Amino acid sequence: MEKDPKYPLIEAAFGRQPDRVPIWFMRQAGRYMASYQAIKAKHSFVEMIQTPELAMEVTLQPIDELGVDAAILFSDILVTASAMGCRFDYVEGKGPLFADPIRTAAQVAALRDTVEGRLDFVSNAIQLLLPELHHRNRPLIGFAGAPFTVAAFMIAGKSPHPFSQVRSWMQEHPIATAQLLEKLARVTATYINAQIQAGVHAIQLFDTLLDQLSIAEFEAWAWPYIQSVMAGIQRPEGLPLIMFSKSIDRFWPHFIQLPIQVISVDAHTSMVTMAASVPAEIALQGNLDPQLLIHPPQDLKAQVEAILASMRPRPGFIFNLGHGIIKETNPQTVKNIVEWVHDFR
Ligand code: CP3
Repeated sequence: MEKDPKYPLIEAAFGRQPDRVPIWFMRQAGRYMASYQAIKAKHSFVEMIQTPELAMEVTLQPIDELGVDAAILFSDILVTASAMGCRFDYVEGKGPLFADPIRTAAQVAALRDTVEGRLDFVSNAIQLLLPELHHRNRPLIGFAGAPFTVAAFMIAGKSPHPFSQVRSWMQEHPIATAQLLEKLARVTATYINAQIQAGVHAIQLFDTLLDQLSIAEFEAWAWPYIQSVMAGIQRPEGLPLIMFSKSIDRFWPHFIQLPIQVISVDAHTSMVTMAASVPAEIALQGNLDPQLLIHPPQDLKAQVEAILASMRPRPGFIFNLGHGIIKETNPQTVKNIVEWVHDFR
């Protein structure tokens, strides 16, 4: 394949002001799209993730139907938990449900921390996608869940809300907690490296649940393992790393110490404050509230443009939501936002 062109997403990530603001959406492929529902009617979510042809098809849907500037690999952050030996299903309306949530140190000890060969479906999907995206002139974002967020699902055995149950378990089992997080950090770095070797153009690390933690808990349960994952990543020059969490206003001072190019900003944090605080070498991504897309207010366009205007002085900016698209969203609203961002001067 020929050399990649200059993608606006990559240019923005490295602070080289592209000729237009790039836009993509977290959860841009999913149930809000009729074309996704059509595939979902015939296959389970796990089948869609594990069958490279299906993962490819779904990954391309938002590129072809919405015109976004980057594809994100269709997968899930819990594939690492599954490769380590946790069994679970995605249950409609409930999310992931684990067969044997982590309750004992012995369960942690039994988890695999070498997963070679168990996530090959991801590399295979990437290899199918690259030529398709090349002729659509779009880069591919790979991703993984960070150790803390994935561990919280493994311990809760489901979406970890309320978080108190996971917190108690971690407090009562400090050694097993550290062992679990260390294993996850090794697997996550290996998994990210496999995606990079397969050819993704950028990586986003999701530590979604950090908003549940105090700074002291973050420093015990999340931060060392984020650093360890980052230290284990081997990447070519020109491949940016994006860090995502909620409560970014509390965590960005840590994140700017990482070898990352982009910080993703959640919808509760002010872009204006972020722009004024975060060093200019770090690009920002975000941060329209996904809730606004469900019942779009009259002034949605003005809100989109206010974010764009606040970022105008900054060479590195990627438009996104503060979190993933919600399934009640009308795809036309998403299309409108793409157009507004592309037309903004
Ligand atoms: O962004 C993308 O389009 C890429 C694909 C992607 C999915 N999940 C697809 C998905 C990505 C990047 C994720 C990340 C993810 N998964 C996170 C971190 C980011 C976030 O949104 O907080 C978390 C915590 C998960 C775990 C997870 N997976 C949950 C809690 C659920 C159930 C909730 C839900 O929306 O149903 C999933 C399932 C899931 N992951 C779906 C999709 C499209 C829905 C599957 C379906 O029923 O069709």
